[in-house]
Amino acid sequence: MSIAVCPGSFDPVTYGHLDIIQRGAKVFDKVIISILINRNKTNPVFTVEERIELLKEATKDIPNVEVDTFNGLLIDYMHTKGANAIIKGLRAVSDFEYEMQMASINRLLDNKIETFFMMTNNQFSFLSSSIVKEVGKYGADVSSLVPPNVEKALREKFEEPR
Ligand code: PNS
Repeated sequence: MSIAVCPGSFDPVTYGHLDIIQRGAKVFDKVIISILINRNKTNPVFTVEERIELLKEATKDIPNVEVDTFNGLLIDYMHTKGANAIIKGLRAVSDFEYEMQMASINRLLDNKIETFFMMTNNQFSFLSSSIVKEVGKYGADVSSLVPPNVEKALREKFEEPR
């Protein structure tokens, strides 16, 4: 059975992520979307629990997709899941250097695990969670960028008193 892991922050999941997840799910028997917990990224908007719920709802119609979390090294997590492939989306040349660095270090740690890159659909080549948060914060319409449950969650989040 081919098990792939699609790792990331998913703060929050966007249509760009979903494009990669849907296409990955057609190639691998199982795709585990896994949220990195111990990320020292500044100020996440959504808690890990909220991100799990948003991802579960957004992928509920894809039967071979699972949502999970991980701590520490991705390669160690891959071993615990018996997964042999990492799926990543590439939007533009600017993603390449960082992704190549990660793929290279992961191959050094375990050369039996392959990283597969998929070019993001052109329509989403500019899209990132950060952009969504930036415009969502000011009440802009993000319905073409994120699924309806994420749009609602963003609206609620930014309406909350801080
Ligand atoms: O969505 P992101 O923030 O670009 O995801 C980055 C992620 C989570 C895939 C990457 O930071 C990661 O794999 N972190 C786990 C720690 C690790 O294994 N590091 C070694 C490879 S760089």
